[in-house]
Amino acid sequence: MSSFSVRPSEREPVSTRFVRAISRGRLGGGAGERRFEAPEIYGRSAIARIARALPLVERAYANVRFSILRPKLLSVMDLLLPDEGPILDIGCGFGLFAAYFGQTQPGRRIVGVDPDARRIEMARKVCAKIGLEGHTFVAGDARDVALEGTFAGAYVLDVMHHIPAADQRPLLERLRDLLAPRGVLVVKDITTEPALGLEFTRLLDRVMVGWDEPLAYRHHREWGEMLTSLGFHVRMVRVPDVLPYPHVVIAATKAD
Ligand SMILES: C[S@@+](CC[C@H](N)C(=O)[O-])C[C@H]1O[C@@H](n2cnc3c(N)ncnc32)[C@H](O)[C@@H]1O
Repeated sequence: MSSFSVRPSEREPVSTRFVRAISRGRLGGGAGERRFEAPEIYGRSAIARIARALPLVERAYANVRFSILRPKLLSVMDLLLPDEGPILDIGCGFGLFAAYFGQTQPGRRIVGVDPDARRIEMARKVCAKIGLEGHTFVAGDARDVALEGTFAGAYVLDVMHHIPAADQRPLLERLRDLLAPRGVLVVKDITTEPALGLEFTRLLDRVMVGWDEPLAYRHHREWGEMLTSLGFHVRMVRVPDVLPYPHVVIAATKAD
């Protein structure tokens, strides 16, 4: 896996890079044609392509996951992640979101990690079926799997509460050390209030993982304090849902 460092031009405000991209015609179709694809519509077709690439049972799961992480929530995370370079997907499962974020920004090279070898194999197949190249999937535990190089970004979608409480901080510390300076870590998780929302989520998680696995949720303030104490600059937003999931999206930027 390759190293990555943020070039000085990438420190420019997004608005400056955006204007330059338009003037180069990078957001458009062909030369001289300046078209702008509406991200939500693009997101929907990316999701449909992923669902079609999956066998029936996994397709049903994907439809549930994409109805929980709706296109608007995905778009928030899409905009927080770097648009190119190596990006870690911790607890990638079947690779649903690697296939999504890999489609929305083709310059990304996603490295997915999950302890479940069957899911990793499925993630490889999904990317191959969609025709996505340059992404790799590694079977292993994010706490100690061998990962080389540095990463422009990382995301952890509904995985932190599956990590035992005592291992959560060391894992975030590891991710910080794997990020390039100014790299961004996006954590999507479930906060602990309101209590009804937490219990609703816990029940569904128990249906998925059974009674033996640890479920270690934290209040979003605790995640914020932990990430800040690890040297990240932290921003977060609670995202409402029609179902009572207490979603929180956290963007943690590593210092220079
Ligand atoms: C709720 S699923 C989320 C999967 C995917 N991120 C998504 O949003 O659809 C939790 C995933 O975390 C993975 N996981 C659990 N413990 C892990 C660990 N120590 N390291 C990496 N992944 C882990 C599980 O195998 C599972 O695929």
